[in-house]
Amino acid sequence: MKSHSIDMIDRLEKNRDLTDDEFISLITDNDPEVMSYLSGRADNARRRIYGNDVYIRGLIEFTNYCKNNCKYCGIRRDNKNAERYRLDEDEILSCCDIGYELGFRTFVLQGGEDPYYTDDMIVSIVREIKKRHPDVAVTLSIGEKEIRGEQGGTDSYRRYFEAGADRYLLRHETADEDHYKYLHPDEMSYKHRIDCLKELKDIGYQVGCGMMIGSPGQKPEHLLKDIRLIQELKPEMVGIGPFIPHHDTEYADYPHGSVELTLRMLSIIRLILPDVLLPATTALGTVAFDGRERGILAGANVVMPNLSPSGVRDKYLLYDNKICTGDEAAECIRCLSGRMESIGYRIVVSRGDHVRFVEK
Ligand code: SAM
Ligand code: FES
Repeated sequence: MKSHSIDMIDRLEKNRDLTDDEFISLITDNDPEVMSYLSGRADNARRRIYGNDVYIRGLIEFTNYCKNNCKYCGIRRDNKNAERYRLDEDEILSCCDIGYELGFRTFVLQGGEDPYYTDDMIVSIVREIKKRHPDVAVTLSIGEKEIRGEQGGTDSYRRYFEAGADRYLLRHETADEDHYKYLHPDEMSYKHRIDCLKELKDIGYQVGCGMMIGSPGQKPEHLLKDIRLIQELKPEMVGIGPFIPHHDTEYADYPHGSVELTLRMLSIIRLILPDVLLPATTALGTVAFDGRERGILAGANVVMPNLSPSGVRDKYLLYDNKICTGDEAAECIRCLSGRMESIGYRIVVSRGDHVRFVEK
């Protein structure tokens, strides 16, 4: 194997940093031996903190209405072919009750940016989940909100936090402003997205940013900027999955992101932030039948099975060929447990909070 690659990976593990040129060379190096060494180091870094535990998050996709028009996304506002649905508070709570029985101790409420759900409604849902199940964590993933200090700012994020929300996922999508403009309509702003992430951190959430791998127009230099942003923001979670085309978007004919590049990025992020919570995403499991297992072996430590009611599963279609849209939650968890055990890991019943790791 190339000894300079080994040296570089060892330095990345030790210093959690490399030069720009070194990062680019690692991002683009698809030599199987180098990849295997990289994922081995990432696996080792994760084991030191989280052992072989894999945390599960029950994903409740509670609305596929969205006021945004992200060009890559199957539930974007202008996709008139998307069959829209919303879950009411009782339906969301019943997903949580079922999930609790199955051993979930984190619920992720995700949806399009749907103004139908007022802040009062979100606050009420979060409070009720916490009242029924005080030992769970609630993660919100409901997009950008007006932030404190902005004209007409609603302080929504703070209200959700005070109601009991623990974590917030808001992928930055790409840390290159021009690339962000390329992927999004004019009315969306990179700066506002980053301001939201900083606000969420300030409030005290465990925060997740992240990006798609292989999104249209993405270059290695963009991934380098993603790395630099992640180093600066120090999020508690990073959501990384391959871009997958959706037939009703302008990117319908683009290829999906590479599994190998996604795995390399997972490993690099693990070595930069050893204590980060890193999901092996459904998108990774969609582009390769063993994608989630390979994600865990490359340094991920979270999986997010779907808890949405089976009647709406196949309507939350961000991309084509999404897996697990037909299975019941219990079936998903059985399947994932078997998959994790087959590679020497185990799914645990735990909130699975971020652990701040201090090197001795
Ligand atoms: N509305 C919320 C937001 O914007 O953060 C949460 C829902 S949004 C659908 C969740 C994530 O799905 C996005 O951050 C994006 O990275 C991912 N996504 C959307 N379209 C995708 C695609 N075609 N392929 C892979 N991931 C996609
Ligand atoms: Fe809003 Fe995708 S465009 S969730």
